[in-house]
Amino acid sequence: MAAPNRWGRAPGAVGSRGHDDVVRGVGVKSSDSATIYTMQSTIKVFYERPGQSAAEAWARVPQEPLPQERPLLKDRIRHRLKAQNAVLVAHYYVHPDIQDLAEETGGCVSDSLEMARFGRDHPAKTLVVAGVRFMGETAKILSPEKRVLMPDADANCSLDLGCPPEEFSAFCDAHPDRTVVVYANTSAAVKARADWMVTSSIGLKIVAHLHAQGKKILWAPDRHLGHYIQQQTGADMLLWQGSCLVHDEFKAFELEQLKKEYPLAKVLVHPESPDSVVKLADVVGSTTQLIAAAQSLQADEFIVATDNGILHKMKLLAPGKRFIEAPTAGESATCKSCAHCPWMAMNGLGNLAQALETGGNEICVDPEIGRRAKVSIDRMLDFAKHVNLNVVPSGDLDKDQHLFKNIGPA
Ligand code: 13P
Ligand code: SF4
Repeated sequence: MAAPNRWGRAPGAVGSRGHDDVVRGVGVKSSDSATIYTMQSTIKVFYERPGQSAAEAWARVPQEPLPQERPLLKDRIRHRLKAQNAVLVAHYYVHPDIQDLAEETGGCVSDSLEMARFGRDHPAKTLVVAGVRFMGETAKILSPEKRVLMPDADANCSLDLGCPPEEFSAFCDAHPDRTVVVYANTSAAVKARADWMVTSSIGLKIVAHLHAQGKKILWAPDRHLGHYIQQQTGADMLLWQGSCLVHDEFKAFELEQLKKEYPLAKVLVHPESPDSVVKLADVVGSTTQLIAAAQSLQADEFIVATDNGILHKMKLLAPGKRFIEAPTAGESATCKSCAHCPWMAMNGLGNLAQALETGGNEICVDPEIGRRAKVSIDRMLDFAKHVNLNVVPSGDLDKDQHLFKNIGPA
């Protein structure tokens, strides 16, 4: 059997099954009375393209470079970034080496909203996006004149995979009276069909704004985030039934037991987690908002329910504090991801260096789809500008106060 990668898995040795599947269904109305509005069949989808299932993604996760190879790879990347007028834009879930390199070379490490904004505003001619495919596509849509590369262009996302454009479009057609709001974790074609795109850091505010205007919402694809936003805003939301493979694994019963072991710990939860887990949270928010909470809250211990790649940044910005991963094990555990996104794990130093050297894995978006998708993304960015939502924690708690305004308990 092949050597395990950084996450301790041998390629292909994932979960209890030989393949993986994404389950999707459409049309449950979420409301206070939890009325079932319409329920179409739940469909199991098996994807053919490489990197489409969690098992295939794990099998493609690059092996950890040897200690003596790491500085050489980093040098190759630094050199190419400079020579090609390129900048590295990374998500908090990717390998710590890539996060550190992004910051050291003048790039950024952040959540999906800030990645989009940083890539758009940076003067570099090439954006190297270390994250998942929708992040690369968003960068390209916002800056069609720039070259966008990714370490592995097949790094996908279970939410994107679970929301095929044709079916999503039919869902929208069936509900023409609703404003279509989609999460960033979708394909360019789905964004092109939407009125608004949102990320987890701003979705609540945007839906509250639309609700105040009397709009009814069609939401896709993450059902947990949709439910959370519906609960918080009281908006009339029709939810697509997608979910994130990673966050779906967090277990409420086991989390309650863990809370008993660490009674002083604060619980930080990403809203892609199930409602039962969100209910146990002290803070619910986007990755940046959870990091900001780890810095600001008067606590020494935190239980963290999101991808464990985030712990690298939390430990850097809140030194001396203790971070405990929320449980993914339990009676119904499948542990297809065990709190780490297999698609994020497809980003390594080796394939990053290679992409820069060969120009491979370039992200292209059909110009017409891109033009239409940009309308929904720009709406979010304009809204963020209007409400002055800056989402990068500076490390200075006084300056970062605004980050805590739209996060809170479940
Ligand atoms: P954030 O925008 O909060 O970083 O979330 C992105 C994501 O994919 C979480 O799973
Ligand atoms: Fe998608 Fe979940 Fe991975 Fe985020 S953690 S990129 S939502 S599969």
